Amino acid sequence: MFSRIETETTEKAAMPKTVNPSKYLGNELSYLEKVLNSESWSATGGSWVQSLEREFARKFGVRYAVAFNSGTSTLHAALEAGGVRPGDEVISPGLTVIMDTTATIHANAIPVYADVDPETFTIDPADVARKITPRTKAIVPVSLYGLPSDMDALMDLAAAHNLTVIEDNAQAVLSLYKGKLLGAIGHMASYSFENSKHISCGEGGMIITDDEKYAEMARKIGGHGFKNLRAEEGRIRLNQDVFQDPDYKRHDVLGWNYRLPEFNAAVALSQLERVDELVEMRIKSARMFMDAMSYCDYLIPQKTPEGSTNSYYTLGVIYRGDESIGASWKEFRKAYIRNGGDGIYAAWSVPYLEPVISERQFAGRYPEIYENVRYEKGLCPVAENVQKKIMQFKTNYRDLELAARKAEALKTTIDDFRS
Ligand SMILES: Cc1ncc(COP(=O)(O)O)c(C=O)c1O
Repeated sequence: MFSRIETETTEKAAMPKTVNPSKYLGNELSYLEKVLNSESWSATGGSWVQSLEREFARKFGVRYAVAFNSGTSTLHAALEAGGVRPGDEVISPGLTVIMDTTATIHANAIPVYADVDPETFTIDPADVARKITPRTKAIVPVSLYGLPSDMDALMDLAAAHNLTVIEDNAQAVLSLYKGKLLGAIGHMASYSFENSKHISCGEGGMIITDDEKYAEMARKIGGHGFKNLRAEEGRIRLNQDVFQDPDYKRHDVLGWNYRLPEFNAAVALSQLERVDELVEMRIKSARMFMDAMSYCDYLIPQKTPEGSTNSYYTLGVIYRGDESIGASWKEFRKAYIRNGGDGIYAAWSVPYLEPVISERQFAGRYPEIYENVRYEKGLCPVAENVQKKIMQFKTNYRDLELAARKAEALKTTIDDFRS
C-alpha cells in the first residue's frame, strides 16, 4: 500500500502542467505513516485529532475546536448543542447547499428560509427579521463561496430574540468580516474538510466556539454521549481502572458517532499547516478570473462589502449574457470549455425546491411537527432568480500558471463573443 502511494507521487511529479499538482504538498504522507504505526487509529485514544483541534483553535483565535467526520455532522451537532429542539424553527438562506436544511430536519426542527442579497448572495438580515417567530431558535448564516454574511445585523437580531447563531463556514476559511476573522462572531462556527474545501482530508469537519458548554455538548453529541467527554478533551479511555469496571456507566447524552478518524486528522493537520498558502492560491486564482472579465459587462462577480474579504472557495459570478450577447448560460459554458477552460459549475438548486424537501419526504418522520410544513416556488424570489444566473469558476488551482491559462481561456471566450 505504501509503495502504491510512492508510485503515485512519482507519476504526479512527471505530469504535464495541464494537470493540477498533487494536493499533498506538505507533511501528509509522513503524518499518515505515523498514524499507521500508532496503537490508536481513533481519536478515543490517539493524539492526532487532539493536535488538529488545538492548532485549529489557535489559528482561529478561539478557545475550543471539536473535530467531526463532516461539515454536515457539525451542523447537526451544533444545532442540538445550541438548544434546537423538536418543532423549533431554524432560519437559513434560500441560496445554499441542502445540508443546512437536512441537518435542521435531522434535529427534528423546521427549516425556514430567508432570502439573500442579490449582489453578495448571502442571507438578507431584513428578511431574517421578517421570518422570526416565537418558535425560532437558531440562525445559520452561510458564507457562500467564501464571503461572510452581514454578521453584525444577524447578531443584533439574535441578541434581541435570544437565538443561537451557527456560522456555516464550510466554504470560508480565514475570511474577514469588518477586519475580524470569521468564525468567532457567531456562537459556533462549522467547517468542512470535504474533498473540494480549502483544507481537505477527504471528509471531515470542525466546530469552533468560545463557549465551553457548546463545545462540551457538541463533543458529546458527536461522541456517543460519553459522559467524561469535555469541551477540550476527546479521549475517553483515560483511566482504565475506571473504564473497565463492570459497574461503570458511560453515557449521559444521546449522541451519534461523528468522530473524525486519526488518519483524516493527520492529513487535515498537514493542510492546516499550509492554510495561508492554500487560501492565498484560491484568492490569486479568483483575481485572475476577475481581471479576465473586468471589461465585460455581463459577468458580474459576487460583491465583497467594505471591510470583508472573500476566501474564494469558488468565484461566484452573475451571468447576464442572455441579454447582452445573446448566448445562454449553457452556450457560454460550452464555449469556455472549447477554449480550454474547466467546467463552470451552476449554483445548486434552492434547497426547498429539491425533491426531498418540496415533496415533503421528511414529513412522515415526525407528523405532528411537519403536518403543516410546505415549501413552494416563490418563497425566496431573489435566491431563485440569482440561482439560475450564477456561474461558479473553479479556484482550486495549486499551480498559478494553470489558473492563468484558464483565465486566458475565459478572456478568449469573452473576445469570441464580442467579435
Ligand atoms: C456551505 C456548505 N455547508 C455544508 C457543507 C457540508 O459539508 P460536508 O460535505 O463536509 O458534509 C458543504 C459542503 O459540502 C457546504 O458547501
